[in-house]
Amino acid sequence: MSSELPALYSLGIIGAGQIARMTHQAAVKLGITPRLLAEESDDSAALAAPDAVYSHPDAIAMFAESCEIITLEHERIDIGLLERLEEGGVCIRPGTRTLRAAFDKMHQRRVLLNRGFPVPAFAELRGPDDLMDFARKFNFPVVIKSIRSGRPGQRSVWIVETETEAMRVMSEQGHRELMAEDYQPIVKELVALVVRRPGGNCRNYPLAEVIQQEGAVHEIRSPAAVGHRVAAEAKELATRIANELEAVGVLAVELFLTTKGLVVNELAARPHNAGHVTIEGSPTSQFENHVRAVLDLPLGPTRSVAPATVTVNVIGGHDGIDPADHLGEALAVEGSHVHLYGKRPAPGSKLGHVTAMGDDLDQAREMARRAEAALMGRRHW
Ligand SMILES: Nc1ncnc2c1ncn2[C@@H]1O[C@H](COP(=O)(O)OP(=O)(O)OP(=O)(O)O)[C@@H](O)[C@H]1O
Ligand SMILES: [Mg+2]
Repeated sequence: MSSELPALYSLGIIGAGQIARMTHQAAVKLGITPRLLAEESDDSAALAAPDAVYSHPDAIAMFAESCEIITLEHERIDIGLLERLEEGGVCIRPGTRTLRAAFDKMHQRRVLLNRGFPVPAFAELRGPDDLMDFARKFNFPVVIKSIRSGRPGQRSVWIVETETEAMRVMSEQGHRELMAEDYQPIVKELVALVVRRPGGNCRNYPLAEVIQQEGAVHEIRSPAAVGHRVAAEAKELATRIANELEAVGVLAVELFLTTKGLVVNELAARPHNAGHVTIEGSPTSQFENHVRAVLDLPLGPTRSVAPATVTVNVIGGHDGIDPADHLGEALAVEGSHVHLYGKRPAPGSKLGHVTAMGDDLDQAREMARRAEAALMGRRHW
Protein backbone atom coordinates (compact mmCIF):
# COMPACT_ATOMS: atom_id res chain seq x y z
CA MET A 1 0.00 0.00 0.00
CA SER A 2 1.17 3.52 -0.71
CA SER A 3 2.49 5.05 2.49
CA GLU A 4 3.02 8.75 1.64
CA LEU A 5 -0.55 9.71 0.94
CA PRO A 6 -3.43 9.78 3.39
CA ALA A 7 -6.20 7.26 2.62
CA LEU A 8 -8.41 9.96 1.23
CA TYR A 9 -6.18 10.45 -1.76
CA SER A 10 -5.39 6.95 -2.92
CA LEU A 11 -8.63 5.98 -4.57
CA GLY A 12 -8.49 3.39 -7.35
CA ILE A 13 -11.14 2.93 -10.03
CA ILE A 14 -11.34 -0.39 -11.86
CA GLY A 15 -12.44 0.30 -15.40
CA ALA A 16 -11.84 3.32 -17.60
CA GLY A 17 -14.98 3.91 -19.63
CA GLN A 18 -17.07 7.07 -19.53
CA ILE A 19 -18.45 6.31 -16.06
CA ALA A 20 -14.89 6.21 -14.73
CA ARG A 21 -14.05 9.35 -16.73
CA MET A 22 -16.85 11.35 -15.11
CA THR A 23 -16.12 9.88 -11.66
CA HIS A 24 -12.48 10.85 -12.13
CA GLN A 25 -13.46 14.40 -13.12
CA ALA A 26 -15.64 14.72 -10.02
CA ALA A 27 -12.82 13.47 -7.78
CA VAL A 28 -10.30 15.85 -9.36
CA LYS A 29 -12.63 18.72 -8.48
CA LEU A 30 -12.22 17.71 -4.83
CA GLY A 31 -8.45 17.60 -5.13
CA ILE A 32 -8.32 13.82 -5.37
CA THR A 33 -6.69 12.18 -8.38
CA PRO A 34 -7.87 8.58 -8.59
CA ARG A 35 -5.69 5.91 -10.14
CA LEU A 36 -7.41 3.98 -12.92
CA LEU A 37 -7.11 0.39 -14.01
CA ALA A 38 -7.64 0.71 -17.76
CA GLU A 39 -7.53 -1.95 -20.44
CA GLU A 40 -6.59 0.14 -23.49
CA SER A 41 -4.74 3.43 -23.87
CA ASP A 42 -7.74 4.91 -25.68
CA ASP A 43 -10.24 4.00 -22.96
CA SER A 44 -12.40 7.08 -22.37
CA ALA A 45 -11.17 7.76 -18.81
CA ALA A 46 -7.56 6.80 -19.51
CA LEU A 47 -7.38 9.64 -22.05
CA ALA A 48 -8.12 12.09 -19.24
CA ALA A 49 -6.10 10.47 -16.44
CA PRO A 50 -2.34 10.78 -16.23
CA ASP A 51 -2.08 8.06 -13.63
CA ALA A 52 -3.82 5.22 -15.46
CA VAL A 53 -2.41 1.71 -15.25
CA TYR A 54 -2.98 -0.54 -18.27
CA SER A 55 -3.77 -4.10 -17.54
CA HIS A 56 -6.29 -6.86 -17.83
CA PRO A 57 -8.89 -6.63 -15.02
CA ASP A 58 -7.46 -9.87 -13.58
CA ALA A 59 -4.44 -7.86 -12.48
CA ILE A 60 -6.57 -6.21 -9.80
CA ALA A 61 -4.48 -7.63 -6.97
CA MET A 62 -1.41 -5.69 -8.04
CA PHE A 63 -3.44 -2.56 -8.75
CA ALA A 64 -5.03 -2.83 -5.29
CA GLU A 65 -1.63 -2.62 -3.64
CA SER A 66 -1.25 0.96 -4.83
CA CYS A 67 -4.69 2.08 -3.57
CA GLU A 68 -6.30 2.44 -0.16
CA ILE A 69 -9.84 2.21 -1.47
CA ILE A 70 -11.09 0.64 -4.67
CA THR A 71 -14.32 1.26 -6.53
CA LEU A 72 -15.55 -0.19 -9.83
CA GLU A 73 -17.19 1.19 -12.94
CA HIS A 74 -18.38 -2.08 -14.52
CA GLU A 75 -19.52 -5.60 -13.73
CA ARG A 76 -17.16 -7.67 -15.90
CA ILE A 77 -14.92 -8.79 -13.07
CA ASP A 78 -14.60 -12.14 -11.36
CA ILE A 79 -16.47 -11.73 -8.09
CA GLY A 80 -14.49 -14.60 -6.53
CA LEU A 81 -11.29 -12.65 -7.09
CA LEU A 82 -12.78 -9.56 -5.45
CA GLU A 83 -13.99 -11.64 -2.50
CA ARG A 84 -10.51 -13.06 -1.96
CA LEU A 85 -9.03 -9.56 -2.07
CA GLU A 86 -11.61 -8.28 0.37
CA GLU A 87 -10.89 -11.16 2.74
CA GLY A 88 -7.21 -10.27 2.45
CA GLY A 89 -7.95 -6.75 3.70
CA VAL A 90 -8.42 -4.74 0.49
CA CYS A 91 -11.08 -2.04 0.98
CA ILE A 92 -13.53 -2.42 -1.91
CA ARG A 93 -16.49 -0.03 -1.94
CA PRO A 94 -19.18 -1.03 -2.49
CA GLY A 95 -18.25 -4.32 -0.89
CA THR A 96 -18.57 -7.72 -2.52
CA ARG A 97 -21.90 -8.44 -0.82
CA THR A 98 -23.38 -5.61 -2.88
CA LEU A 99 -21.29 -6.37 -5.95
CA ARG A 100 -22.33 -10.02 -6.10
CA ALA A 101 -25.96 -8.87 -6.32
CA ALA A 102 -25.08 -6.42 -9.08
CA PHE A 103 -22.87 -8.80 -11.10
CA ASP A 104 -25.02 -11.91 -11.07
CA LYS A 105 -28.62 -11.36 -12.19
CA MET A 106 -29.82 -14.73 -10.82
CA HIS A 107 -28.36 -14.03 -7.40
CA GLN A 108 -29.84 -10.53 -7.59
CA ARG A 109 -33.32 -11.85 -8.34
CA ARG A 110 -33.08 -14.42 -5.53
CA VAL A 111 -31.89 -11.88 -2.97
CA LEU A 112 -34.62 -9.39 -3.92
CA LEU A 113 -37.34 -12.07 -3.93
CA ASN A 114 -36.23 -13.42 -0.54
CA ARG A 115 -36.43 -9.94 0.95
CA GLY A 116 -39.94 -9.41 -0.47
CA PHE A 117 -39.11 -6.91 -3.24
CA PRO A 118 -41.33 -7.01 -6.37
CA VAL A 119 -39.47 -8.81 -9.21
CA PRO A 120 -40.69 -10.57 -12.38
CA ALA A 121 -40.98 -14.37 -12.23
CA PHE A 122 -37.62 -15.88 -13.26
CA ALA A 123 -35.79 -19.16 -13.70
CA GLU A 124 -32.28 -20.30 -14.46
CA LEU A 125 -31.93 -21.85 -17.94
CA ARG A 126 -29.65 -24.88 -17.86
CA GLY A 127 -31.01 -26.11 -21.19
CA PRO A 128 -33.96 -25.88 -23.62
CA ASP A 129 -36.23 -27.91 -21.30
CA ASP A 130 -36.02 -25.23 -18.62
CA LEU A 131 -37.06 -22.62 -21.20
CA MET A 132 -40.04 -24.70 -22.35
CA ASP A 133 -41.14 -25.32 -18.75
CA PHE A 134 -40.96 -21.57 -18.11
CA ALA A 135 -42.90 -20.70 -21.29
CA ARG A 136 -45.62 -23.23 -20.40
CA LYS A 137 -46.05 -21.58 -17.01
CA PHE A 138 -45.81 -17.92 -18.04
CA ASN A 139 -46.48 -17.95 -21.82
CA PHE A 140 -44.61 -16.09 -24.53
CA PRO A 141 -43.19 -13.49 -24.85
CA VAL A 142 -40.37 -14.63 -22.58
CA VAL A 143 -37.34 -12.49 -21.77
CA ILE A 144 -34.00 -14.32 -21.98
CA LYS A 145 -31.10 -12.63 -20.22
CA SER A 146 -27.46 -13.31 -19.79
CA ILE A 147 -26.84 -13.72 -16.06
CA ARG A 148 -23.62 -11.73 -16.31
CA SER A 149 -22.98 -8.49 -18.19
CA GLY A 150 -21.30 -8.73 -21.55
CA ARG A 151 -18.67 -6.46 -23.07
CA PRO A 152 -19.83 -2.90 -23.84
CA GLY A 153 -22.21 -3.09 -26.77
CA GLN A 154 -22.66 -6.86 -26.46
CA ARG A 155 -26.32 -7.79 -26.35
CA SER A 156 -27.54 -9.51 -23.19
CA VAL A 157 -31.36 -9.36 -23.37
CA TRP A 158 -33.66 -11.05 -25.91
CA ILE A 159 -37.43 -10.80 -25.91
CA VAL A 160 -38.63 -13.93 -27.68
CA GLU A 161 -42.15 -14.46 -28.98
CA THR A 162 -42.00 -18.09 -30.09
CA GLU A 163 -40.39 -21.41 -29.26
CA THR A 164 -38.32 -21.26 -32.49
CA GLU A 165 -36.92 -17.84 -31.58
CA ALA A 166 -36.20 -18.98 -28.04
CA MET A 167 -34.31 -22.03 -29.24
CA ARG A 168 -32.28 -19.94 -31.66
CA VAL A 169 -31.17 -17.57 -28.89
CA MET A 170 -30.40 -20.50 -26.61
CA SER A 171 -28.23 -22.21 -29.18
CA GLU A 172 -26.45 -19.00 -30.24
CA GLN A 173 -25.84 -17.92 -26.64
CA GLY A 174 -25.35 -21.40 -25.20
CA HIS A 175 -21.83 -20.52 -24.06
CA ARG A 176 -23.24 -17.91 -21.66
CA GLU A 177 -25.17 -18.52 -18.45
CA LEU A 178 -28.78 -17.60 -19.20
CA MET A 179 -32.00 -17.00 -17.31
CA ALA A 180 -35.64 -16.51 -18.28
CA GLU A 181 -37.92 -13.78 -17.05
CA ASP A 182 -41.62 -13.12 -17.32
CA TYR A 183 -42.28 -10.34 -19.86
CA GLN A 184 -43.56 -7.22 -18.07
CA PRO A 185 -46.17 -4.86 -19.53
CA ILE A 186 -44.05 -1.73 -19.08
CA VAL A 187 -45.76 1.65 -18.84
CA LYS A 188 -42.59 3.56 -17.98
CA GLU A 189 -38.95 2.69 -17.25
CA LEU A 190 -37.67 4.49 -14.18
CA VAL A 191 -34.37 4.73 -12.35
CA ALA A 192 -34.17 5.47 -8.63
CA LEU A 193 -30.67 6.55 -7.65
CA VAL A 194 -29.62 6.41 -4.05
CA VAL A 195 -26.19 7.13 -2.62
CA ARG A 196 -25.14 5.63 0.70
CA ARG A 197 -22.19 6.10 3.04
CA PRO A 198 -20.63 3.17 4.93
CA GLY A 199 -22.48 4.12 8.14
CA GLY A 200 -25.86 4.03 6.40
CA ASN A 201 -26.46 7.71 5.69
CA CYS A 202 -28.41 7.89 2.39
CA ARG A 203 -29.55 10.50 -0.08
CA ASN A 204 -31.94 9.99 -2.99
CA TYR A 205 -31.92 11.74 -6.34
CA PRO A 206 -35.22 12.73 -7.97
CA LEU A 207 -36.73 9.74 -9.77
CA ALA A 208 -35.69 9.68 -13.46
CA GLU A 209 -37.50 8.26 -16.46
CA VAL A 210 -35.51 6.58 -19.24
CA ILE A 211 -36.69 6.47 -22.83
CA GLN A 212 -35.30 3.62 -24.92
CA GLN A 213 -34.73 3.72 -28.64
CA GLU A 214 -33.56 0.68 -30.61
CA GLY A 215 -32.77 -1.19 -27.41
CA ALA A 216 -30.55 1.52 -25.92
CA VAL A 217 -31.24 4.32 -23.46
CA HIS A 218 -31.76 7.41 -25.58
CA GLU A 219 -33.12 10.01 -23.24
CA ILE A 220 -33.36 10.62 -19.48
CA ARG A 221 -36.01 12.86 -18.02
CA SER A 222 -35.94 14.19 -14.49
CA PRO A 223 -38.16 14.30 -12.59
CA ALA A 224 -40.06 11.34 -14.03
CA ALA A 225 -43.61 12.24 -15.04
CA VAL A 226 -45.27 10.03 -12.42
CA GLY A 227 -47.50 10.74 -9.44
CA HIS A 228 -46.13 11.49 -5.95
CA ARG A 229 -47.11 8.03 -4.73
CA VAL A 230 -45.06 6.21 -7.37
CA ALA A 231 -42.09 8.55 -6.84
CA ALA A 232 -42.22 8.03 -3.08
CA GLU A 233 -42.55 4.28 -3.45
CA ALA A 234 -39.57 4.13 -5.86
CA LYS A 235 -37.46 6.15 -3.45
CA GLU A 236 -38.42 3.93 -0.55
CA LEU A 237 -37.68 0.75 -2.53
CA ALA A 238 -34.24 2.01 -3.55
CA THR A 239 -33.34 3.04 -0.01
CA ARG A 240 -34.48 -0.29 1.44
CA ILE A 241 -32.48 -2.22 -1.17
CA ALA A 242 -29.37 -0.10 -0.50
CA ASN A 243 -29.69 -0.76 3.22
CA GLU A 244 -30.38 -4.49 2.78
CA LEU A 245 -27.29 -4.87 0.58
CA GLU A 246 -25.24 -2.44 2.72
CA ALA A 247 -24.41 -0.63 -0.49
CA VAL A 248 -21.75 2.10 -0.46
CA GLY A 249 -21.66 4.73 -3.18
CA VAL A 250 -24.35 5.07 -5.83
CA LEU A 251 -26.87 2.27 -6.17
CA ALA A 252 -29.05 2.56 -9.27
CA VAL A 253 -32.33 0.70 -9.07
CA GLU A 254 -33.89 0.24 -12.51
CA LEU A 255 -37.65 -0.08 -12.15
CA PHE A 256 -40.53 -0.89 -14.45
CA LEU A 257 -43.78 0.90 -13.79
CA THR A 258 -46.33 -1.68 -14.93
CA THR A 259 -50.10 -1.70 -14.87
CA LYS A 260 -49.76 -3.65 -11.60
CA GLY A 261 -47.26 -1.29 -9.96
CA LEU A 262 -43.50 -1.05 -9.60
CA VAL A 263 -41.23 -4.01 -10.38
CA VAL A 264 -37.46 -4.05 -9.88
CA ASN A 265 -35.63 -4.68 -13.15
CA GLU A 266 -31.95 -4.54 -12.30
CA LEU A 267 -29.42 -3.05 -9.92
CA ALA A 268 -26.17 -1.30 -10.74
CA ALA A 269 -23.81 -0.65 -7.84
CA ARG A 270 -22.09 2.34 -9.44
CA PRO A 271 -22.96 5.64 -11.10
CA HIS A 272 -25.51 4.95 -13.83
CA ASN A 273 -26.24 6.29 -17.28
CA ALA A 274 -29.56 7.70 -16.02
CA GLY A 275 -27.67 9.74 -13.44
CA HIS A 276 -25.83 11.85 -16.03
CA VAL A 277 -28.78 14.18 -15.61
CA THR A 278 -27.50 14.98 -12.09
CA ILE A 279 -24.27 16.64 -13.31
CA GLU A 280 -26.08 19.88 -14.03
CA GLY A 281 -29.51 18.93 -12.65
CA SER A 282 -28.53 18.61 -8.97
CA PRO A 283 -26.20 20.57 -6.66
CA THR A 284 -24.03 17.43 -6.27
CA SER A 285 -23.69 14.99 -9.17
CA GLN A 286 -23.98 11.23 -8.80
CA PHE A 287 -20.25 11.03 -9.59
CA GLU A 288 -19.20 13.42 -6.86
CA ASN A 289 -21.50 11.77 -4.35
CA HIS A 290 -20.16 8.35 -5.34
CA VAL A 291 -16.62 9.56 -4.61
CA ARG A 292 -17.72 11.18 -1.36
CA ALA A 293 -19.54 8.03 -0.26
CA VAL A 294 -16.74 5.57 -1.03
CA LEU A 295 -14.31 7.83 0.86
CA ASP A 296 -16.86 8.17 3.69
CA LEU A 297 -17.14 11.94 3.32
CA PRO A 298 -20.35 13.96 3.87
CA LEU A 299 -22.80 13.64 0.97
CA GLY A 300 -23.99 16.68 -0.95
CA PRO A 301 -27.55 17.73 -1.76
CA THR A 302 -29.33 15.71 -4.45
CA ARG A 303 -32.46 17.79 -5.16
CA SER A 304 -33.27 19.21 -8.62
CA VAL A 305 -32.00 22.69 -9.35
CA ALA A 306 -34.56 23.25 -12.13
CA PRO A 307 -38.19 22.26 -12.69
CA ALA A 308 -37.09 19.88 -15.47
CA THR A 309 -33.81 18.40 -16.69
CA VAL A 310 -33.36 16.22 -19.77
CA THR A 311 -30.27 14.34 -20.96
CA VAL A 312 -30.04 13.00 -24.50
CA ASN A 313 -27.36 10.40 -25.23
CA VAL A 314 -25.09 10.89 -28.22
CA ILE A 315 -24.95 7.47 -29.87
CA GLY A 316 -22.65 6.57 -32.77
CA GLY A 317 -24.44 5.96 -36.07
CA HIS A 318 -23.63 3.83 -39.11
CA ASP A 319 -22.56 6.96 -40.99
CA GLY A 320 -19.41 7.15 -38.82
CA ILE A 321 -20.03 10.79 -37.91
CA ASP A 322 -17.77 11.97 -35.10
CA PRO A 323 -19.62 14.38 -32.79
CA ALA A 324 -16.29 16.02 -31.91
CA ASP A 325 -16.23 17.40 -35.48
CA HIS A 326 -19.49 19.25 -34.76
CA LEU A 327 -18.66 20.57 -31.29
CA GLY A 328 -18.88 24.19 -32.39
CA GLU A 329 -22.40 23.83 -33.78
CA ALA A 330 -23.56 22.09 -30.60
CA LEU A 331 -22.02 24.69 -28.29
CA ALA A 332 -23.89 27.34 -30.24
CA VAL A 333 -27.10 25.88 -28.79
CA GLU A 334 -26.98 28.05 -25.71
CA GLY A 335 -28.29 26.56 -22.51
CA SER A 336 -27.31 23.02 -23.41
CA HIS A 337 -24.44 21.23 -21.67
CA VAL A 338 -22.33 19.11 -23.99
CA HIS A 339 -20.30 16.15 -22.73
CA LEU A 340 -18.09 14.14 -25.08
CA TYR A 341 -16.29 11.02 -23.91
CA GLY A 342 -13.34 11.11 -26.32
CA LYS A 343 -14.31 7.75 -27.82
CA ARG A 344 -13.76 6.65 -31.40
CA PRO A 345 -17.14 6.69 -33.18
CA ALA A 346 -18.69 3.24 -33.59
CA PRO A 347 -22.29 2.32 -34.37
CA GLY A 348 -24.34 2.02 -31.17
CA SER A 349 -21.53 3.28 -28.94
CA LYS A 350 -22.27 6.01 -26.38
CA LEU A 351 -20.03 8.87 -27.45
CA GLY A 352 -21.37 11.57 -25.18
CA HIS A 353 -24.50 13.19 -23.83
CA VAL A 354 -26.19 16.57 -23.75
CA THR A 355 -28.17 17.94 -20.83
CA ALA A 356 -30.53 20.91 -20.73
CA MET A 357 -32.79 22.37 -18.09
CA GLY A 358 -36.09 24.10 -18.53
CA ASP A 359 -39.36 25.19 -16.99
CA ASP A 360 -40.88 21.92 -18.16
CA LEU A 361 -39.72 18.63 -19.68
CA ASP A 362 -40.71 19.61 -23.23
CA GLN A 363 -38.62 22.77 -23.13
CA ALA A 364 -35.59 20.99 -21.67
CA ARG A 365 -35.92 18.14 -24.16
CA GLU A 366 -36.16 20.45 -27.15
CA MET A 367 -32.95 22.22 -26.15
CA ALA A 368 -31.01 19.00 -25.44
CA ARG A 369 -32.20 17.42 -28.70
CA ARG A 370 -31.15 20.44 -30.73
CA ALA A 371 -27.60 20.19 -29.41
CA GLU A 372 -27.54 16.41 -29.91
CA ALA A 373 -28.76 16.82 -33.50
CA ALA A 374 -26.01 19.38 -34.11
CA LEU A 375 -23.37 16.97 -32.77
CA MET A 376 -24.58 14.24 -35.09
CA GLY A 377 -24.54 16.54 -38.10
CA ARG A 378 -28.32 16.57 -38.46
CA ARG A 379 -30.34 19.66 -39.19
CA HIS A 380 -32.27 21.06 -36.25
CA TRP A 381 -35.87 20.17 -36.55
N1 LIG B 1 -38.86 -8.73 -17.82
C1 LIG B 1 -38.90 -7.81 -18.78
N2 LIG B 1 -40.07 -7.52 -19.40
C2 LIG B 1 -40.12 -6.60 -20.41
N3 LIG B 1 -39.05 -5.93 -20.87
C3 LIG B 1 -37.86 -6.17 -20.28
C4 LIG B 1 -37.73 -7.13 -19.22
N4 LIG B 1 -36.43 -7.16 -18.85
C5 LIG B 1 -35.79 -6.27 -19.63
N5 LIG B 1 -36.64 -5.68 -20.49
C6 LIG B 1 -36.30 -4.63 -21.49
O1 LIG B 1 -34.94 -4.78 -21.86
C7 LIG B 1 -34.15 -3.65 -21.43
C8 LIG B 1 -32.77 -4.10 -21.00
O2 LIG B 1 -32.87 -5.02 -19.93
P1 LIG B 1 -31.90 -4.97 -18.68
O3 LIG B 1 -32.00 -3.64 -18.03
O4 LIG B 1 -32.17 -6.16 -17.83
O5 LIG B 1 -30.52 -5.20 -19.36
P2 LIG B 1 -29.33 -4.25 -19.78
O6 LIG B 1 -29.47 -2.92 -19.17
O7 LIG B 1 -29.16 -4.36 -21.24
O8 LIG B 1 -28.27 -5.12 -19.09
P3 LIG B 1 -26.77 -4.98 -18.83
O9 LIG B 1 -26.59 -3.56 -18.38
O10 LIG B 1 -26.58 -5.99 -17.75
O11 LIG B 1 -26.13 -5.32 -20.14
C9 LIG B 1 -34.98 -3.03 -20.29
O12 LIG B 1 -34.62 -1.69 -20.10
C10 LIG B 1 -36.39 -3.24 -20.83
O13 LIG B 1 -36.72 -2.30 -21.83
MG1 LIG C 1 -30.78 -2.04 -17.76
